[in-house]
Amino acid sequence: MNLTITPNYTALSIMAARLIAQLVKAKPDCNLGLATGRTPIGVYAELVRMHREEGLSFKRVRSFNLDEYYELQPNHPQAYRRYMNEHLFNRIDIAPQNTHIPDGTIDFERVYSHCADYERAIDDAGGIDLQVLGIGKSGHVGLNEPGSTAESRTRLITLEPVTRLDAAGDFLGIDNVPTRALSMGVGTIMRAKRIILLATGVHKASVVARALRGPVSTEIPATFLQEHPAVEVLLDREAAGALLA
Ligand code: GLP
Repeated sequence: MNLTITPNYTALSIMAARLIAQLVKAKPDCNLGLATGRTPIGVYAELVRMHREEGLSFKRVRSFNLDEYYELQPNHPQAYRRYMNEHLFNRIDIAPQNTHIPDGTIDFERVYSHCADYERAIDDAGGIDLQVLGIGKSGHVGLNEPGSTAESRTRLITLEPVTRLDAAGDFLGIDNVPTRALSMGVGTIMRAKRIILLATGVHKASVVARALRGPVSTEIPATFLQEHPAVEVLLDREAAGALLA
């Protein structure tokens, strides 16, 4: 893994956005794997700026998001579809039909085939060229909670209490946080050609150290990234704190 410690959140966001922009310029029909959460908001803001001020075009880009809460309507304030539309898709020239996010409203009986279709869509597009990842306190990437295997694929996942607690503020109470989500698997993520893992803040320091230096194990699904050949880890000083100690 290639590790860069940036001075602050802005520097991290700009660096990640530049890596994405380089790919989009070199391969205008690339497939981007995208993440949600607070961490990548600055990256998307910088990509929007590059689109508006530097003419960076996403016209032929296809995107595949990692995950979506199960049973949230796409326009729910906390739905990842809404997040992506508001932070990125509505502000750049990507074609709406080229943006893919698991459908959190799919009937339970159709979840399995929907997830298989999502995997097939990624494969049919030629695979993910660059996957952006954050990391959750439970050690999840996407929403692959502890127990997720290296081979796991897109599926319905039960969220850990700590994951729901982290989201409780956004949902105005833990009882409003969905208990399940659809997420790409670890195996789906590991098939991406390149990965950028982002983490900021002191609250991520311990999980970042375990993810990067700990034994590879389903207990911390992010540890599987140690086995990927092309991972760029971008941290701010606070998130890198336990690595440097
Ligand atoms: C959520 C998202 C993940 C994200 C994680 C960390 O669980 N589904 O994709 O990486 O939270 O979020 P944040 O970036 O807000 O710390």
